[in-house]
Amino acid sequence: MSSQEIIIKEGVLKGAILHSLWLRERLSGDEFVDPNNLQRLYEPSLLDENLLIDSFSIKDNFLSIKFSDGVEGNISVDELYQEINSIDAIPKKKIWEKNDSLQIFDNNKIFENSESLIQMLESFYKYGYVIIENTQAVENEVLNFAEKIGPVRTTNWGKLFNVVSKPNPNDLAYTALELKSHSDNPYRKPVPGIQLLHCIANESIGGDSSLVDGFSVAEFLRNNNKEFYQILTNTSVNFKFTDVDVILENKSKLIELDDDGEFKQISFSGRLDYVPLLNQEKLKTFYRARKCMYELCNSDQFKIKFRLSKGMIAMFDNLRTLHGRTKFDPNTGFRHLQGCYIDHDSTEGKLRRLLK
Ligand code: OGA
Ligand code: ZN
Repeated sequence: MSSQEIIIKEGVLKGAILHSLWLRERLSGDEFVDPNNLQRLYEPSLLDENLLIDSFSIKDNFLSIKFSDGVEGNISVDELYQEINSIDAIPKKKIWEKNDSLQIFDNNKIFENSESLIQMLESFYKYGYVIIENTQAVENEVLNFAEKIGPVRTTNWGKLFNVVSKPNPNDLAYTALELKSHSDNPYRKPVPGIQLLHCIANESIGGDSSLVDGFSVAEFLRNNNKEFYQILTNTSVNFKFTDVDVILENKSKLIELDDDGEFKQISFSGRLDYVPLLNQEKLKTFYRARKCMYELCNSDQFKIKFRLSKGMIAMFDNLRTLHGRTKFDPNTGFRHLQGCYIDHDSTEGKLRRLLK
């Protein structure tokens, strides 16, 4: 008997209700998808919307189906299971506080074999950052490193930016001032996903680094202050950067949630944010909430502190992990970092490919 859906009675897919069209557009094999790229060779929107399943069986971990349009084909049960259960090769995020051990990797080992690279990338996705030691402390090395992980995102600052204290800077990062915990470039569309900071010299007094798991702070707020959490996840703030060449603007919530209500992105930069003119009550709450978030992001409870020394790279998820530095005295020694950005899609994609 034909039906528009099947209910799987046994095995790992037990209880799954699978619609005919949903299954039809997942058929594997050269007839349906190009073997070189796995892209569909037909237009799924033109399939018969009343398509039925005439019969099916599961054998050797493949679901074989006969459809009412005469088409027969197979689908891997493992792939169905992974898709239905949203199982991705990218590891689940592990929320941390400052007491968790620092994720440090040796540049001389990471690229030795794919297992080492996988280990580093998995830690990066779990914890939202990794520290790399033993890179060459020379200019452009950050690009050599980054390009092994994914294509570098060029911005109006070029492929890389130099973090040095200089006169009349177009960004406070290029001074010797303290930088409180922040995310970079929340005014860009899209916000750069991965940031790398490479230390060429750090000989000044001061200039220590810090990282904070923004999702850990968001979780703390969710658990401890519903009112603050509510306003921070619902108020779109305008982030703005101005120099002689461009005015960049982007709106986002300080804590952005995804469709499932999970943490998607943290945007935090007290130098660049402009809250809309809400009513008095809402503004009052927003300012209290932002202050609380600021205090948590800069507290010893959440902040790991370390010194980025010559030859080290801090690579972090700029949509999750906030970073900062203490002020330094440029008269006591030279300090020079170089930074660049990579988008998440390519790096995630690299890890998925390495794992397959
Ligand atoms: C930056 C930045 C940190 C540092 O350039 O965005 O935050 O240690 N720099 O100088
Ligand atoms: Zn920064």
